[in-house]
Amino acid sequence: MQQQISPAGRLKGAVRLPGDKSISHRAAMLAAIAEGQSTLVNYATGADCGSTLKCLQALGVAVGIDGTTIRIDGCGLEGLQAPPVPLDAGNSGSTIRMLSGILAGQPFPTTIAGDESLSVRPMQRIMAPLRAMGAVVEARDEKFPPITVTGRRPLKSISYTPPMASAQVKTCVLFAGIYAEGETTVEESIPTRDHSEMALREFGADVATAPGRITIAGFPKLQGREFHVPGDISSAAFFLVAALLVPGSHIAIEGVGLNPSRTALLDYLIGLGAAVQVSRIEQVSGEMTGDLDVRHSPTGPGVIGGAMAAALIDEIPVLAVLGAAGGGLTVRDAAELRVKETDRIAALAANFQRAGVHMDVSPDGFSVPGGQKIRAASFDSMGDHRIAMAFAVAALCAGGPCTIEEAQAASVSFPEFYSYLARLAA
Ligand code: S3P
Repeated sequence: MQQQISPAGRLKGAVRLPGDKSISHRAAMLAAIAEGQSTLVNYATGADCGSTLKCLQALGVAVGIDGTTIRIDGCGLEGLQAPPVPLDAGNSGSTIRMLSGILAGQPFPTTIAGDESLSVRPMQRIMAPLRAMGAVVEARDEKFPPITVTGRRPLKSISYTPPMASAQVKTCVLFAGIYAEGETTVEESIPTRDHSEMALREFGADVATAPGRITIAGFPKLQGREFHVPGDISSAAFFLVAALLVPGSHIAIEGVGLNPSRTALLDYLIGLGAAVQVSRIEQVSGEMTGDLDVRHSPTGPGVIGGAMAAALIDEIPVLAVLGAAGGGLTVRDAAELRVKETDRIAALAANFQRAGVHMDVSPDGFSVPGGQKIRAASFDSMGDHRIAMAFAVAALCAGGPCTIEEAQAASVSFPEFYSYLARLAA
């Protein structure tokens, strides 16, 4: 599908976003192995979180879908069933990596495959710790999906330090730790999003945290519950940047997740001079939420590296657009961008080139000078949701109407994106 996007006059109005993708995956997986029924309210609407539900159904879990309210009949820690066919994780790295942790504790083999993009994403990062815990894990060429996890129960508990900053790897190990004897620990030198720690506690697990160290006690009693998912701050990022760039804009984004491990985006934007305000902060299902208010404002030059690169990894594509049209951006320590749904450094460079925007590329980052004119162009999402949405934002401040090719990729995390954008621009 192609999407035409014309330069916007100004963005005005209020939006409430679909549920957070990261939190939705975790809540669904834990609900599946809890005792009793769970109701997940405002579950993410994107295809990725749909993939998680389909995988759980294939494992014998009863899932009722009523709009964005999901009812899951938990089958307990030992109730999953061997699936008759390979599971399909679609485009979702979170599904394959996090669910593998749970599968490592099941006494049967499960194969998980995915789409073309997922089939070339690295899996060694979860294979190493799961093997150390005693699961048998096979993968195409020893690194790519499809992977087959043959679990065992109990697993051996380990203390593991992932070699890269990855919340998916951390989660995989903690979820396997549910099925391990004793205590399983993950140590991380760069902190990553802590939704798993929070959700595990909400469902009743014993999780101890200290700076850089998370420990879960094996075989917790997980109890089904009502769980509210806040709006996705990574989806909000596209509207925040759009409002900052388009003169005259003033928008409100309500009920957004404000977990401190995700709000580096707000600190970064405010640090650049953006007029972003946060209000009505409250805690729901263990997570902070609140409302955002953003007005068009000039932004200064940005530098993202070290722990910031990990904290902003999903937002970097749209922050690159802000940098190009705003005050410039230099990114380093972000080699992980190259193994996302697509090589996002290459995807940014190729699309900027189409619009006459200059960008210097390095192995683990890039630099975009600020104040550049974005020429009207046809952009290619390359099948990556965040590239599609980042260049839809670029199109709002381009010299003329633009096209996004393979625009439907946005529906992996945010199917409503183009209609919400049109509503704010109307
Ligand atoms: C996620 C972790 C990050 C992020 C992804 C979601 C999660 O991936 O990019 O969109 O929900 O844990 P990595 O763990 O690969 O860094």
